[in-house]
Amino acid sequence: MKNYKHMPQLLILGMLLMGLSISSARADDEDMPSFVVNAKWKEECSGCHIAYPPRFLSAQSWRAVMSGLGKHFGSDASLDAATTQEITAFLEKNADQRKRSMSGKPVLRISEMRWFKSEHDEVSARTWKNPKVKSPANCGACHTQADMGDFSERNVRIPR
Ligand code: HEC
Ligand code: HEC
Repeated sequence: MKNYKHMPQLLILGMLLMGLSISSARADDEDMPSFVVNAKWKEECSGCHIAYPPRFLSAQSWRAVMSGLGKHFGSDASLDAATTQEITAFLEKNADQRKRSMSGKPVLRISEMRWFKSEHDEVSARTWKNPKVKSPANCGACHTQADMGDFSERNVRIPR
């Protein structure tokens, strides 16, 4: 019963902690409204480039990418079966829902999608050749918040 006298302090501490967690949750919501994340995807797919958000390819394309990780754009990105399965399920679930490929052949590169080309048609040839850009797949060269899933116009900075 002698611990009872600490109750007011504990209550105040508890209220402070609750306040803290509420305010940090709010900050996250504002920064990334619709950014869905899976821990394995974040860990395994961000070693060589940003972890490309699932919404940029169709489920069919993600299946094709994930079934060829051993020969992945000239590198070996293979994973164990369980991890491959978990990441594939995550990507498929959050994939672009619009039907795109009429030919039936899945596009493996985001940078080869038609919407990508039209969103980027104002980027000059000189910019694409800038060594700071290297490749259209290098989203973070211009989209400064790409690793947070934010591709909004206000966070685009073209390297000079
Ligand atoms: C060992 C390095 C490595 C790992 C790990 C890796 N990738 Fe890649 N990935 C690459 C390389 C290299 C490219 C080609 C980049 C370029 O063209 O500039 C690429 C390109 C891609 C592209 C096409 C980008 C575009 O639009 O041109 C996708 C999609 C992709 N990776 C998905 C994934 C996924 C999903 C994972 C996790 C399962 C993953 N990658 C893990 C090396 C890797
Ligand atoms: C060389 C710089 C550069 C690279 C690299 C680049 N982008 Fe962009 N991106 C831009 C510019 C510039 C715009 C047009 C911004 C605007 O709307 O005015 C844009 C627009 C976009 C948009 C539309 C944004 C909106 O809100 O309208 C998306 C989505 C996007 N990019 C995704 C990507 C992805 C995914 C990658 C990598 C696979 C990538 N970009 C690589 C420069 C780049």
